[in-house]
Amino acid sequence: MAEFIPVCSFDIVIFGGTGDLSRRKLLPALYHRWADGQIPPDAKIIGVSRSEMSDEAFKKFAYEACEEATPDKLDKVKWKKFEQHLSYVTMDATDTKADWPGLRQKLVTDADRPCIFYLAVTPKIYVPICEALGKAGLAEGNARIVLEKPIGTDLQSAREINAGVGAVFAEDRIYRIDHYLGKETVQNLMVLRFANSLFEPLWNRSAIDHIQITVAEHYGVGERAGYYDGSGALRDMVQNHILQLLCLIMMEPPNSIDGDAIRTEKIKVLQALRPITAENVNKDTVRAQYTSGNVEGEKVDGYLNELGRGSSTETFVAIKASVDNWRWARVPIYLRTGKRMKARHSEIVVRFRPTPHAMFGAQDAQSNRLVINVQPDEGVQLYLQIKEPGPGGLKIKSLPLNLSYQDNFTVRYPDAYERLLMDVVRGNLSLFMRREEVEAAWQWVDGLIAAWEEADTPMRTYTAGVEDGPIEAKMMMHQDDREWWDSGT
Ligand code: BG6
Repeated sequence: MAEFIPVCSFDIVIFGGTGDLSRRKLLPALYHRWADGQIPPDAKIIGVSRSEMSDEAFKKFAYEACEEATPDKLDKVKWKKFEQHLSYVTMDATDTKADWPGLRQKLVTDADRPCIFYLAVTPKIYVPICEALGKAGLAEGNARIVLEKPIGTDLQSAREINAGVGAVFAEDRIYRIDHYLGKETVQNLMVLRFANSLFEPLWNRSAIDHIQITVAEHYGVGERAGYYDGSGALRDMVQNHILQLLCLIMMEPPNSIDGDAIRTEKIKVLQALRPITAENVNKDTVRAQYTSGNVEGEKVDGYLNELGRGSSTETFVAIKASVDNWRWARVPIYLRTGKRMKARHSEIVVRFRPTPHAMFGAQDAQSNRLVINVQPDEGVQLYLQIKEPGPGGLKIKSLPLNLSYQDNFTVRYPDAYERLLMDVVRGNLSLFMRREEVEAAWQWVDGLIAAWEEADTPMRTYTAGVEDGPIEAKMMMHQDDREWWDSGT
């Protein structure tokens, strides 16, 4: 059984309390942490949004949200206790004249007690809400602000948000969430690299041939089409989740696990990303949209049909990236992500160089691989070459040493938000992004988008549900004599 260390008492105000993120993630996460005894009895959870709603109606909303997100039925007796933490305020949080005194009354006035303001709302109103919090005198004491991604839609808008929020809250009070950093396997990346002496001597250009990061999803954009079409795979997934994975794989060992030590190393990686320009963008990137197909036996629409109009937004992107520093010179990092791909799987593959001399002939051409399964089937596999038993000559096979989470741990994996919310209460910033990280990531992504426009990069297509992206993404690898790792092969 995992043991949970209770956090101190706190208040959390969820702006966008009746929205999708609150329903799917935040309320269930808080419920689970409470059910495991991590949240003290006097913590307060306050939903805020413009919809008229009583405390009772908000409790009912929260109950349905938690039931929907939990595989087993909720225990009603337990729930009655949990719902005592919940209350609701109707207000337009961008309005400085709204009922801020009403909200203040619900909070415990103790300067040491963390008071967390969670912005589960559109980034366009991050700054007005922070300004209103400041004017209402609520940004003082131990107040903290949590910002969801996307932080802006480009470097300029990210800078504006960071400056506006930073004018009210000091940097060490700002928690920029990338929920991938709260995933168990993503946290394990640092442990794998820095708690095992085995890897460090090999973790560089001399031993590593290339790295692949894949985040594939089998679902489409569905009800989020409105948001997604203004974003696309590059802004929605690469700018944040995938670049964060890349940073954890490629950063130098930090001096400690202190938030700033880790974040300083990640920023260096982002700043070392080689800009992709119009000269190489058509060779080193692929953008594509899914067309109609079959997902798990069901016919599904293509992206444009779902949208009901034309669009130049990509639902898939593949990129050959480079990190220009001493450790990673000439080691390509191939990134790909897409909606409506064959299956939901996220993994990182570190491919080592082949042996210098092929003693056993062509059959030992397969080199070692470290495969980190981020989700599902969380685990780590180290592929080694072994001799297939039996007579009839020396046959070599590549097989994994398999460290499966499921086989080794019986605990329930907490959702990423559970960990991240408790870290906000603890004041632990290690798994949150610093301002420069967000801005460096946007700078690289903005450059790529500008290169697509300048080079008129074509939009490719792939069939929903049956393919792992367009054929051009495979060809991008073939031009380098490499293949995407397919765990099925
Ligand atoms: C979100 C993206 O940040 O991450 C979504 O906006 C995506 O488009 C989601 O589906 C993926 O998260 P997870 O945890 O399901 O891999």
